[in-house]
Amino acid sequence: MTAAPLALGVLVSGRGTNLMAIHAAITRGELPARIVLVGSNRPEAPAVAWARAQGLPVGVFPRTAYASRAEAQAALARALQEAGAELVVMAGWDQVLTPAFVAAFEGRLMNIHPSLLPAFAGTMHAVEDALAWGVKVTGCTVHYVTPEVDAGPIILQAAVPVAEDDTPDSLLARIHEQEHQLLPRAIALHAAGRLRIEGRRVRILDA
Ligand code: GRF
Repeated sequence: MTAAPLALGVLVSGRGTNLMAIHAAITRGELPARIVLVGSNRPEAPAVAWARAQGLPVGVFPRTAYASRAEAQAALARALQEAGAELVVMAGWDQVLTPAFVAAFEGRLMNIHPSLLPAFAGTMHAVEDALAWGVKVTGCTVHYVTPEVDAGPIILQAAVPVAEDDTPDSLLARIHEQEHQLLPRAIALHAAGRLRIEGRRVRILDA
């Protein structure tokens, strides 16, 4: 007997290439999941238009439609719960989540960040900052989310070497290639029950 596919909520604010990678992995049969809600805070995000065009369920919760950021996120949390989301993935989400939101999805909320955490944490410019710092290797990190931004237990990381002639765009493009593999893999490990959080560490259990 095969287990039911994992019910996934995906949070997007931007282009949505990670959402596309998750959707592609599901379609190829590599990720036993189904997207039950694409949630966004940005009605104009390309990711929202793309998700609608795919026929995915989409909910948009702009800050301006609510009295506060906390209320907008509370509405998003309710929508995710009503959709039955078992795991929520921040795939290019650009707002700090409230402690209430994080608590509602404790242990089942993931983020992807374009650096090797804890380097270049807490910024929307991690790729530019890595280049400006002169690092020779950067990469991307998938981690469980805790109230402190970009500080939760690390699930998977991939390293990306910095080339002599890299620009922020060329480096980001190579980081994205890694992200698009890493995030579906992390979700698949979670879906298979193979991730165990032990303090700061995430232990990956044998299949
Ligand atoms: C990714 O680089 C991710 O690491 C960061 O936001 C970006 C989202 O890209 N958190 P996309 O919207 O998935 O194309």
